[in-house]
Amino acid sequence: MISSLRGRLFIGLTATIVLTGAIGAIFTYAWAFDEAIEIQDSALIQIASLAQSGSLSVNPPVREIEENAQVQLIELGRTAGVAPDQRQLFELKDGLHVASLEGHEVRVLVGTRSDGSRYAAAQPASVRDDTAEDMAARALLPIIALIPCLLIVTGLVITRSLRPLTQMAGNLDARRADDLHPLPAIDAPTELYSFIASINGLLTRIRLLLDQQRRFIADAAHELRTPITALSLQAENLDAVELPEGARGRVAALRQGMQRTRHLLDQLLALARYEAKPIASEMPQVSLDQTAKEVAADLLSQAADRGIDLGFEIVEPVVVRGEPTILAILIRNLLDNAVRHTPHGGRIDVGVFREDDWAVLQIEDSGPGIPAADLERIFEPFYRGSRPQGEGAGLGLSIVKRIADSLRGEVSLENMTGHDRSGVRAVVRLPLSRALDQPSIIEQPTPSPDPCFRSAS
Ligand SMILES: Nc1ncnc2c1ncn2[C@@H]1O[C@H](COP(=O)(O)OP(=O)(O)O)[C@@H](O)[C@H]1O
Ligand SMILES: [Mg+2]
Repeated sequence: MISSLRGRLFIGLTATIVLTGAIGAIFTYAWAFDEAIEIQDSALIQIASLAQSGSLSVNPPVREIEENAQVQLIELGRTAGVAPDQRQLFELKDGLHVASLEGHEVRVLVGTRSDGSRYAAAQPASVRDDTAEDMAARALLPIIALIPCLLIVTGLVITRSLRPLTQMAGNLDARRADDLHPLPAIDAPTELYSFIASINGLLTRIRLLLDQQRRFIADAAHELRTPITALSLQAENLDAVELPEGARGRVAALRQGMQRTRHLLDQLLALARYEAKPIASEMPQVSLDQTAKEVAADLLSQAADRGIDLGFEIVEPVVVRGEPTILAILIRNLLDNAVRHTPHGGRIDVGVFREDDWAVLQIEDSGPGIPAADLERIFEPFYRGSRPQGEGAGLGLSIVKRIADSLRGEVSLENMTGHDRSGVRAVVRLPLSRALDQPSIIEQPTPSPDPCFRSAS
């Protein structure tokens, strides 16, 4: 059984066309053959009528049939002659006959003139059949030529008719994973409407399900934050209490664990919250360079503690669309990774600039880089690669990716290779917002001291 609709249609229609063509051809052939025979009979009759009136005579008179002659006029005389053909024909009555002369079939028209002399107009059956077959075959030509044309047209029509289906599949394939907008039914053939309606129903259900899941994660993370904060406070209160030396270390570990949990909850909350936001074009305008500077300022002391030279290589004023807090989460996750993976005394170069219609944020560290095998999975949630550093859940880069996607941007991580550099180059591209010349409408959170200096300088 052929599973492709196109295959089925094509085979079904091909069989129909070929069968119809074959039946038509058989009938045409038979009809054309009979017709050709009749035409040849009428030629015999015409020759006979000329012979009858005496306007056609053959000199010297032919007495015997020649095997390959087309049409022959044979004089039979008044009495049965001596030649065998002549005698056999003389015995036939006036009119059309099929005679067998020495094993050869002959179509013959015998007639008697008014003076009593007889004649025969004869034509060998083999010659007649050859001619008739020739004419019948020629009548078949249009049908034979038409069948391949019909097959080609059928193939084209089928392909064209099924194109909306392949187009729809292509559109669905090309969609971003988070694009759950309904499929448009305009331009689609009516037969596809119910199909499109079913897919759209499914998309709606998936959207609801995802919303539910997101809300659940957000609620759970939110609910868990309060007790964790309370626990942290309790642990901090323990600082004021006289504790034996061994207990102090354990309390410190407890506090660290709780901080880790809070960080994870914050990330989960960010992940769940930002996706419920409206699409990029309805978001406020944010200055990417300002936000990057603020995030970097937050991380400066951490970098300085580790002897890392964190600074901006290039800063251009660029404005993008997005939530300032969400954008800060994106930058913080990337910078945080860079700080964590850069060894003591290393350096981190941040750049914010314009490139065509893109706002680009670039962070280069001087860490060990990411093993090539880890690179393709690095954006998966909870994936920490083969060289994880410090605390973390492997959510950071997946959050970065989702935020970049939701802002219609892109993010890439690559290893820098070169004799003087190693480390990771993280590049985020976001669509540049148009209102570059109107800095007044840019949302700018509290101005901060210019952190555009190198921490180590
Ligand atoms: N700048 C970097 N240099 C080296 N490895 C990195 C860098 N950034 C990320 N990675 C690798 O990618 C993994 C995933 O990062 P991320 O999603 O932020 O999770 P986490 O930081 O919680 O481990 C990290 O565990 C680390 O192995
Ligand atoms: Mg991280």
